[in-house]
Amino acid sequence: MTAERATRADRAVVRAAHPVAFPLVSAIPGAVRRVPGLGVVVKDAGLLRAVLMDSEHFTKNGPGAPSDLWTPVLGPRVLLNMEGVEHHALRRQLAPLFSPAFVDGFVAESLGAATDALAAALASGDRVDLVTHARRGAGRVISRLVGLDESAFDDRMFARVSSVTGYVTLARPRLGPRQLVAARGILGELGAHASRAYAGDDSTVPGRMRALGLSEPEALGAVGAFVLTGTETIVSYLPRLVALLVDSGWHARLAADPSGTDAAIAEALRVTTPSPVMLRAVTAPTRIGPVAVRPGDRIILGTYWADTALGVFDPDANPAASLKQLWFGAGAHYCLGAPLAMAQIRLALDALLVHPGLSITRRRAARGVLIPSYAELEVAA
Ligand code: HEM
Repeated sequence: MTAERATRADRAVVRAAHPVAFPLVSAIPGAVRRVPGLGVVVKDAGLLRAVLMDSEHFTKNGPGAPSDLWTPVLGPRVLLNMEGVEHHALRRQLAPLFSPAFVDGFVAESLGAATDALAAALASGDRVDLVTHARRGAGRVISRLVGLDESAFDDRMFARVSSVTGYVTLARPRLGPRQLVAARGILGELGAHASRAYAGDDSTVPGRMRALGLSEPEALGAVGAFVLTGTETIVSYLPRLVALLVDSGWHARLAADPSGTDAAIAEALRVTTPSPVMLRAVTAPTRIGPVAVRPGDRIILGTYWADTALGVFDPDANPAASLKQLWFGAGAHYCLGAPLAMAQIRLALDALLVHPGLSITRRRAARGVLIPSYAELEVAA
C-alpha cells in the first residue's frame, strides 16, 4: 500500500467512530467559524495554539468546557477542570511521577512481561490482536496508577471506563442523570482503591502522591484524570500507528534502519491525533482570527483537522515537526502523561520492529466510539 492508501485507511477509522460528526466538521469551511447549535469551530493550527496559550480569555472551567462534563463526576480539582495558580501548583507536585527516570522504570515494570509475551507469540507464528494487547497494557498501567491489583483492571473494567467516555459527544456538553450515576459508580470504585493505596506506603502511585504532598482529594482527582485521559488515547494510537506503518511500507523500512522511528511516531500522532478535539469556554470578549467570541461561547478546537490538513503520512518530509506536538495540546494543559505515552509507544514498537515482515491479517474499526480506534487489528510476523 502507499502512504495515501495508509492515510485513507486511518481516515476510515475516524469515520467509523463518528459517521455524522466527522463529515459535518470536515465540511465546515475556513479556519474558524461559528456554527449555530455547536459553537465556534477552530481548524487552523496557529489559531488553535493561540487559544491554548491564552489563559486570559479561554478556560477549561466554564460553560461548555470540560468542567461541565467532569466536575459533577470527579469534583472540582482534577487538573482538566482547573486553571491558574492552583492548577499550576498541582501539576508541579505531580511532575516527579512523569519524569523520564520514573516513567521508564514504571513502564518496564508494568508492561515488560506483556511486551515480551507479545514478541514471543509473534516469533512462534501466532496471530496477535494488537487492540487486545494495547487494552491489557493500558489496564496494567492504570492499575498501577490507581494502586489496584493488576488482575483487577480486566477487560470488563476497561469496557466500563470506555462507556463513560462514550457518553460524550460534540453535541452533548453535559452527562445526563443516568450517565452521571454510571460514571460516578465506576470512577468512585476506582477512587476507593486509590484511597486505600493513598493511606498505605509509597510503593503505589497514590501512596507516592501522598509523599509528594498531595491531599487525598487531589490524589484521587489526579487518578480520575489519568483514567479518563490515559487509557483510550493509547489504545487508539498503538494499533493505528502499526496499521499506518505496515500499510505504508514504513514498518519494514524502520525494521531495517530504526533511525527514522521518532519521526514516524510523530507523523502517526499527527495523522491519527488520538485526542481529536479540545473544548474551551470564553472568560472575556476577544477574537479568534476574524471571529469575535464572548463569554457563553463554546470553543471547539478541532486538532484532528488542523493536524491532518498537512497531508498524508510522510515521515520523510515529517510535516509533524512544524506542529510542536499539537496532538498533545499546548500551554498550561499540555498532556501531563506525554512522557508516559511515549515510553509505552516505544516499548511496543521496539518489540514489533524485530519482525520486518509484520503483516495485518484482520482489521475492524470500532463504530460509534468517542476516540476513533480499531476494534480489532490482528497481525502476524
Ligand atoms: C497518545 C496518547 C495521548 C494523547 C494524544 C494525549 C493528548 C492529550 C491532550 C491533547 C491533552 C490536552 C487537552 C486540553 O488541553 O484540553 C491532554 C491532557 C492530559 N493528558 Fe494526555 N494524551 C495521551 C496520553 C496520556 C496518558 C498515557 C496520560 C497519563 C495517564 C495522560 C494524561 C493527561 C492528563 C492528566 C492531562 C490533563 C493535563 C491538564 O489539564 O493539566 N495522557 N492529553
